[in-house]
Amino acid sequence: MLTDAHHRIIDYVRLSVTDRCNLRCTYCMPEQMRFVKSSALLTDEEIVTLLQTLARAGISKVRITGGEPFLRPGLMQLLAEIKAIPGIREIAITTNGVLTHQHIPGLQALGITHINLSLDTLQPQRFRQITRRDQFATVMQSLESLLAHQMKVKINVVVMDNVNTDELVSFAALTRDQPISVRFIEEMPFNGQGHTFSGINWNYEKILNTLREQHTLHKLPDAPHATALQYCIPGHQGNIGVIPAYSRTFCGTCNRLRISATGSIKTCLYGNDVLNVKDLIRSGEAILPAIRQALHQRAVNGFEAERLHTSALESMSVIGG
Ligand code: GTP
Ligand code: 5AD
Ligand code: SF4
Repeated sequence: MLTDAHHRIIDYVRLSVTDRCNLRCTYCMPEQMRFVKSSALLTDEEIVTLLQTLARAGISKVRITGGEPFLRPGLMQLLAEIKAIPGIREIAITTNGVLTHQHIPGLQALGITHINLSLDTLQPQRFRQITRRDQFATVMQSLESLLAHQMKVKINVVVMDNVNTDELVSFAALTRDQPISVRFIEEMPFNGQGHTFSGINWNYEKILNTLREQHTLHKLPDAPHATALQYCIPGHQGNIGVIPAYSRTFCGTCNRLRISATGSIKTCLYGNDVLNVKDLIRSGEAILPAIRQALHQRAVNGFEAERLHTSALESMSVIGG
């Protein structure tokens, strides 16, 4: 079992398989983003070795992130290999939806059903402003296809002041006839712009209050380790979540380890890279003792320890969310 010094069990890995993205969301990265060379990425073989080691130590859930994961060549084959690792019970993917639709039958064949789709607006023009790319129709096609194939879809909506706050109610309406979870995320400072984040105007309470002006929200029980506070609107098939990513802490129940596409390990979203496993794997050294040691040094509340000191922050595409 993997634990930290504060008796938290770590059984969930967020693995970024590429830092590249085919969108340029303003809250995530600058237009001129510099990506790492392919040779700097963990290879498929290294990822499988790493996850086999972690699965033997009790990791049971893997979330595949990016950048945009489907930009990694051969992702479906890699997913099949991860799926075959004993102990990995759930594989989930966070994607922007641009390339997703063409892979849905393949995902179904692998039994991968949990897809989180990043979508911050339902308006084509605004989509272009937020993502700096013209891919709205393709993303909507992916959403429709995911639902038609009965995939378990969560839509991640980053709530941005003066950008999309007028669409909260429209997003909530998507839950009426579809079993979707729409999750509103507080904006975080991970935009790779190298400037100090000015704080948020739209915290989760303001988001909830805005929704309550139109809808009755019933609180649902919190899933263990969940980042989202969950609600349902009576009569709606889906549900609503708010992720207080910036104003609250999930540290008490944090079960996550983050691995970047180049093998850097973070034991906290707000923390520094504490270790690079690619170097260890390539030099034939043991991975697990180093990860255990890194976890042992994890702060009890990384959010408070790090957040207030964090200014020029990396892009979320490098961290993987
Ligand atoms: P599931 O609960 O498995 O659906 O995954 P998730 O919500 O963790 O994954 P997803 O990739 O959809 O992330 C949603 C948002 O939650 C992203 O903006 C993440 O960065 C944020 N998030 C995930 N883990 C943490 C965390 O430890 N701290 C904070 N502050 N935010 C987090
Ligand atoms: N603040 C909040 N959420 C963000 N994401 C990316 N950048 C940020 C940010 N600065 C979200 C994406 C994706 C998830 C993994 O993280 O929209 O859904
Ligand atoms: Fe790409 Fe996701 Fe970042 Fe948007 S938020 S640029 S889709 S990695």
